[in-house]
Amino acid sequence: MSNTLPPLPYDYNALEPYISGEIMTLHHTKHHQTYVNALNAAEAAYAKASTPKERIALQAALKFNGGGHINHSLFWKNLAPSSEKGGNGGVLKEGPLKEAIKASYGSLDNLIKEFNTTTAGIQGSGWGWLGVNPSTKRLEITTTANQDPLLTHAPVIGVDIWEHAFYLQYKNVKVDYLNAIWHVINFDEAEKRFVEATGGSKL
Ligand SMILES: [Fe+2]
Repeated sequence: MSNTLPPLPYDYNALEPYISGEIMTLHHTKHHQTYVNALNAAEAAYAKASTPKERIALQAALKFNGGGHINHSLFWKNLAPSSEKGGNGGVLKEGPLKEAIKASYGSLDNLIKEFNTTTAGIQGSGWGWLGVNPSTKRLEITTTANQDPLLTHAPVIGVDIWEHAFYLQYKNVKVDYLNAIWHVINFDEAEKRFVEATGGSKL
């Protein structure tokens, strides 16, 4: 049951100039690794706990570090080198995800505007999400606090709004980070998750 740090699917500097190699290196090897280590410690302690009280006392650590591990594992796959670098980052191709974005937001530009406004409003640390509402199967924008994983929706795109995700490059200007990140969003990965969440392509 030991959790491990998943390797990045690209080089640390592959998302430049939108996300610096320095941020990616620290974010992956230090921050994400810390969540993995603390989750393993909490799970080991939980396995050894012999009373309900001991198990309850571990729940906050399991949620925080387990959420951190889940969210970051999703986030790395959620990103890709930009099209200027020969990657597929920022490129939304024709397909079911593009159709769903048009149906809910009119255009990708409108989605980005709404997502960034909602996400910039997070107080403190958290995550911005584009997810599928399991009842309506439609796309919705939502946020979670701290490292809470998204449980109300199936995640399609998640953006880390902790200062460790942008501060070294963007300082306090969160909105510049939010505008930049869309150049490296892996819409192919997002579409895969969207199709899974909606029960198959609507072709
Ligand atoms: Fe993070």
